[in-house]
Amino acid sequence: MNVLQAMLARRSCRDFTAEPVTEKEIEQLLLAANAAPVGMARFDAIALSVIQDPALLSGIEAAACAAAPEAANKHPLYHAPAGILVSVKQEEGRTGEMHRMSAACVMENILVEAAELGLGSVYLMGVMAALSQDAALCAAAKVPAGFVPVAMAAVGHSAAELEPHPATAERFACARV
Ligand SMILES: Cc1cc2nc3c(=O)[nH]c(=O)nc-3n(C[C@H](O)[C@H](O)[C@H](O)COP(=O)(O)O)c2cc1C
Repeated sequence: MNVLQAMLARRSCRDFTAEPVTEKEIEQLLLAANAAPVGMARFDAIALSVIQDPALLSGIEAAACAAAPEAANKHPLYHAPAGILVSVKQEEGRTGEMHRMSAACVMENILVEAAELGLGSVYLMGVMAALSQDAALCAAAKVPAGFVPVAMAAVGHSAAELEPHPATAERFACARV
């Protein structure tokens, strides 16, 4: 699978089986994460947490559900057996904004590598509001002091086969000048 094929194969998985992610797969995902472009090469501003503790994953889910009791989805982690949490150093203004953009690049690398490995994945931002406000959960996830979690790549095995994206250059409006 070349890189474009992996990008097209990457679809958001919202139904994971209980099959765990292997240590080898986690290592591959971390290699991909660490290859991401990072604004101003501020590698110090990004911190990752690999979360496979079912109690912690359930705790994050419970916090998100408690924060949004009206939400129809009671399993915003979709039973994923693993999550790679991306946290950024809290800095003001454009630098802080840049760290969040770097985090998105880290996320995409993880998601594309998951596709390459035949794993399902989904970019989770919805649960971050609740998680970032919960000091105990952040401590359990080993989010460093002065950092805030901004996204989590939920990874695992998809319960269903997901259709790859069609190869198109027309999804986004694109001006040529
Ligand atoms: C910044 C960002 C935040 C997202 N947050 C969530 C989320 O909290 N929960 C979720 O189920 N999907 C989330 N997604 C996944 C998008 O809904 C998904 O990428 C989009 O619907 C396109 O589908 P695809 O990923 O299969 O191409 C997020 C994606 C991005 C890029």
